[in-house]
Amino acid sequence: VQGAIDENEVAGAARRRADYGWREIEKRLQATPAYWPAFQQAYPSLQRPADITIVHVANALDDFMNHQWRADESPFDQYLSGNASAMTNQQIAGMTLFYGQAGCSRCHSGALQTDHDFHALMLPPLGPGRTRAFDTLNRDPGRLNETDRLQDSYAFRTPSLRNVADTAPYGHNGAFKTLHGIVQHHLSPASSLDNYDRSQLIMAADSVLAATDFLLWTDIREMSRYRRYNDLDLPAMSTNELDQIIAFLHALTDSNSLQGVRPAPEHVPSGLPLD
Ligand code: HEC
Repeated sequence: VQGAIDENEVAGAARRRADYGWREIEKRLQATPAYWPAFQQAYPSLQRPADITIVHVANALDDFMNHQWRADESPFDQYLSGNASAMTNQQIAGMTLFYGQAGCSRCHSGALQTDHDFHALMLPPLGPGRTRAFDTLNRDPGRLNETDRLQDSYAFRTPSLRNVADTAPYGHNGAFKTLHGIVQHHLSPASSLDNYDRSQLIMAADSVLAATDFLLWTDIREMSRYRRYNDLDLPAMSTNELDQIIAFLHALTDSNSLQGVRPAPEHVPSGLPLD
């Protein structure tokens, strides 16, 4: 998002240390007069442009995101607040499974259906990964990259399931095109990995990139290491139960939230072009 290292001063500074980039952002905001009235309005205690810090920016963005993409008026929310007809019988059956026998809420718990923790799901690996400088493989070891603890290998954060029916493709790398595919994968990760259908992916039509998309799969040692990390052990499900779970996931859609509360701006205070 911040651009390549030689593209602008923020990207260059952030590469040296994350907070050096923040300083560059502060300087830009302080020097662009059109930002000052907006900051003053949001933070009356600010005396002059030089008082704008990255903390003000972060809090403003936090507030904006909470307002703009809030999705808590789905049929599920309406049902929980007493409207018994907000969900269909199939969705209610799916909810009962999700929070009971199917075991989904062991990880997808709380108001956002996530424990905010990291788990290894053995999703089909693909693409250039997030390889570190000393690594020779184009893999993505997940949480391990941050903690250096072996037990965090290939673990990714449990995502929220709010609006999930509208946010395909699924998984950290978008390996599954449908809800059916990703949920089925949860039920039997190893055989799902073995039988992965690559044709569901929409990848850049670029022969150089395509050569590395599945390179990892030819590395027998890496693939056997990959298969050692699996935090899923869910009970089998009938086709009918699977349909009920998927119907429930559709009940998590707050259709009004999909467009965002406010439309995209026509112009921004810096005067930079929008596309
Ligand atoms: C062991 C914890 C755990 C359990 C149990 C679990 N999940 Fe997940 N789920 C995750 C994690 C972690 C991811 C993200 C994996 C990744 O990106 O590599 C995920 C991803 C998903 C996604 C894709 C969301 C997206 O936006 O990409 C769906 C849908 C989902 N889970 C549904 C379910 C359902 C339904 C159940 C019960 C049958 C379930 N999960 C049980 C941890 C779990």
